[in-house]
Order: sequence, then C-alpha cells, then structure tokens
Amino acid sequence: DYAGSGYAHSKAILLGEHSVVYGAPAIAIPVEALGVQAWVNPRAEGLYLESDLYTGDQCDTEHQTGPVRAAVAAALEATGQPGAGLSVRLHSTIPFARGLGSSAAVGAAIGRAIGSMAGRTLDPEQLNTIIQAAETVAHGKPSGLDARTVVADSPIRFQSGEVSAISVGGEFDFVIADTGVTGSTAEAVDSVRVQREAERGRVEGILAQLAEHADAAVADLASGAKSALGEKMSTVHGLLASIRVSSPLLDSLVAEANAAGALGAKLTGGGLGGCIMALASSGAHAQQIRDALYRAGAVHTWHTKVVP
Ligand code: PMV
Repeated sequence: DYAGSGYAHSKAILLGEHSVVYGAPAIAIPVEALGVQAWVNPRAEGLYLESDLYTGDQCDTEHQTGPVRAAVAAALEATGQPGAGLSVRLHSTIPFARGLGSSAAVGAAIGRAIGSMAGRTLDPEQLNTIIQAAETVAHGKPSGLDARTVVADSPIRFQSGEVSAISVGGEFDFVIADTGVTGSTAEAVDSVRVQREAERGRVEGILAQLAEHADAAVADLASGAKSALGEKMSTVHGLLASIRVSSPLLDSLVAEANAAGALGAKLTGGGLGGCIMALASSGAHAQQIRDALYRAGAVHTWHTKVVP
C-alpha cells in the first residue's frame, strides 16, 4: 500500500545524438515497451530505497542511486516538502546505461509518484526540472532531450531546450537491440568534446552533417518516407563511428540488421555500448530482424512502432 505512484516510459534517439549537445536539432521517440514504475510512502527521515538495482538505507553505488536521490530531493522541493523522509520502491524494465533513458525515466516516475503523494499533478516544467536533476547526476551536462522524450506521447523534435511534437504520416517499425554492454554517456560526450577541441574543423563538419540529417528527417516522418529515413540512419551511424562513439559490437549489430534487410540502422544514444536501432519495412520484417540480431549476439531486442 503506497501513498503515491508514478510511471514513465523509455525512449530512443532516432537522429541527432551528440550534435544536440551543441545546439543542433534531434528527433527522439517514446518507447512504450519499457518503463519505470515508482511507489512512494512518507517516512520519518532519510531516504529508504528498494529497487531492481539496490535495496537498503545507504547507497553503495552512487552511479545507480545518485539520480534517484537527486530526483527525490527536487520533487520534494517542488511539492513544498523539502528534506522530508521518503521510502521509494522502483521497478524498472529499462536496462541501465544503454541509451534508453533509464535515468530520465526514473526521474519522471519519481516526480509523478511524489506529485501524486502530494495530491497534485506537476506541470510539465516542474516535472522537467525534476528529471533534469536526475539526468545531471547521471550524465553531467545533459542536453535535455531524454528528459523531454520520457514524458512525450509522440516523436519529438528537440533543439536547445525547445520541444515540439512531430506529425507522423505512416507506420514505422523500429527494432532496438541491446549489446548488453553499458556505455557511459558522460564519457562519450566528453570524448566528442576533446576531439572537437583537437580537430575543430573535422569534428564541426561531422556535427553539422548530423544536424542536417536530423532536421531533414522530420519531413520523412511526416510523409511516411521510410527508405529516405533508413538511408539517413545508416549515414548517421557512419558519422557517429567517425567521431568514435561506436564500438565493434555496435558496428556488428548494425551490419547484421542491414544484412537482414533493414532500411537503415544506427547506434542510438550516447554510444560506446548500449543499443542499436534499425528500421524495418513491416511488423513481420521487424520480427525477422530481431531473430537475426539475437543470432548475432544481442542480449535483448524490442519492436517499437511509430504511428500517425
Ligand atoms: O545515452 P543517452 O540515451 O543518455 O543519450 C545521450 C544523448 C547525447 O546526445 C549523446 C547526450 C545528450 O545530453 O543529449
């Protein structure tokens, strides 16, 4: 029996990861198949946390519980109970540190749970502040894209904090496949920063191409142009590899998806590990791509649809 509960789904970045950090547009989609449920109860003092990852009074892994603590503090503040004691139970089906927005979804679920405990629905900006508090602990300087996508109910275009819903003109069947290897977004973002300082011309050229592809893909979604979108995804995978945020495992899953007839495939999220995302030509084709990716060593695969 809980005083408040909240849920948030996962997300995937379709195009624009990394360049979004430098103010370029990005497109991300909600992934309904995965999510985080949070339940909360008042407590005399301190934070008691029970989750898939950790149970106990003390947090031993700052890495995993830091975002939870930050979201709790921000949500208690937003609901006028700063510093109150709280017991939190989390159940997440989102694999951790795979570019699927697990830290943002944890923040959103906690924000909603504490809001419901306080008897109110937080407005979108309050909720975003809470999610960004969790994201900041997880990633350092997040662009804000994940925070907006885990509470979105359609694909979004995001640029410099501004978010807009994208109109969709056809059915798009995406496959997401997990390498099973964690990738540190903070490390990947930092590596791009260092490369950009050392080779400004080359890296800015690549970031500009990433930006152009993300911007142009908005029209592909609107018109149902699957082949055009797939081509952009494949080109973008090559561009991301050239700024060294891919990995041999990500490259091999992308190649496997293409061999299974995907219209395009790329890593999704920060990279260095985590997931790939492929575009199938139909729901049945998505199942074939999933089978091929499991045979190639993916630890999990999901089919997620974008529909008008
Ligand atoms: O790895 P994820 O899903 O947290 O995505 C990171 C996306 C980046 O563009 C690499 C970073 C950011 O803050 O947007």
